[in-house]
Amino acid sequence: MKKVITYGTYDLFHIGHLNMLKRARALGDYLVVAISTDEFNTGKHKQCVYPYSHRAQIVEAMKFVDKVIPETSWEQKIEDIKKYSIDVFVIGDDWTGKFDFLKEYCEVVYLPRTKSISTTAIKDTVQSGKSISSIT
Ligand code: CTP
Repeated sequence: MKKVITYGTYDLFHIGHLNMLKRARALGDYLVVAISTDEFNTGKHKQCVYPYSHRAQIVEAMKFVDKVIPETSWEQKIEDIKKYSIDVFVIGDDWTGKFDFLKEYCEVVYLPRTKSISTTAIKDTVQSGKSISSIT
């Protein structure tokens, strides 16, 4: 069985998140998603709309997600890869090159992001009163 892992915050779940998880699962047979906890986000000065328990339950309900684990630190990746016998680490190409050090432990794949959508763009759009289709 080929096991894949990915990391992210997954706040205000959107089509870019869906595409990422679907393509991540297609790289193997079992997908683990590590979701940033509220405490970890606070350390990154990032404030989520949804608490960790909501974000984790939403992602866990996706049919192509097999397991959700908490992401509590930047340093846990090597430990997670060993613990879950991971073959592929995958993340969006906004992180290209940043996780090449993991190539010692598994395959590392950077997937192109879905264009024109992000949690940040949704927050801005809601504030402006426009619709998502107006995000460019
Ligand atoms: N992602 C993607 N396409 C998008 C948005 C996100 O492929 N349009 C991917 C990211 O590259 C990452 C995962 O989805 O691998 C989770 O990203 P996350 O940071 O939670 O979402 P963003 O929408 O990028 O959030 P923010 O605007 O807060 O940075």
